[in-house]
Amino acid sequence: MFIVMEGPDGSGKSTQIALLKEYLNENGRECLVTREPGGTAVGEAVRDVILNPEYKEMSDVTEMLLYAASRAQLMAEVIIPALEEGKVVICDRFVDSSIVYQGIARGLGVDTVAAVNAPGIGAYRPDCIFFIDITEEEGLRRKKAQKKLDRLEQESIDFHAMVSKGYRQVLAGREEVVRIDGAAPVEEIQRQIREEVDRRLAPKRQGDREYAGF
Ligand code: TYD
Repeated sequence: MFIVMEGPDGSGKSTQIALLKEYLNENGRECLVTREPGGTAVGEAVRDVILNPEYKEMSDVTEMLLYAASRAQLMAEVIIPALEEGKVVICDRFVDSSIVYQGIARGLGVDTVAAVNAPGIGAYRPDCIFFIDITEEEGLRRKKAQKKLDRLEQESIDFHAMVSKGYRQVLAGREEVVRIDGAAPVEEIQRQIREEVDRRLAPKRQGDREYAGF
């Protein structure tokens, strides 16, 4: 099962992923956690370039291609082999991050970003995408309290507003997407995530041959 966590900066994805991994491990499920950009040696090197606040001159197209490059490497080296071995894979961000940040907020277009990412992803799709929905103000407030901001986080509030709005637009009405109110307490968000994962991992009713979520 391929699980993806999406949401604006400061939505609390990494906290939720750590708690979900703990839960799955306690229940005897082998799971692999990874992140974008990064997750491989090549990808982490690309991440350092993308997020370095010194590279103010980076063009939007370069940025899109670097995210796609990191993702292609992660698919080939980590995600595809793990899924083929039957593991649960949890990924912190996936192609919808590029669709929203580069396609919508940078204005490169949803179709262009999807096309650039297609060769790296192939036919693989997340079975479940958790969308932690928070406003740009709340997300940035949390980020500023946490650490030094990276190149993307240093973007204007208008950019982040486009990200929040873009997520709602891109993820709306999709069967694999579960929207969660990011203003809720950490424990409540985690409860909703666990409930949904249990539902999708549990065998379907007797008589059905396949497992839910696959
Ligand atoms: P992330 O690792 O979630 O940030 P952090 O660990 O600091 O919370 O993501 C890094 C930044 O990259 C974030 O601002 C979102 C952005 N991003 C894109 O613009 N496009 C993409 O395809 C991905 C994966 C991330």
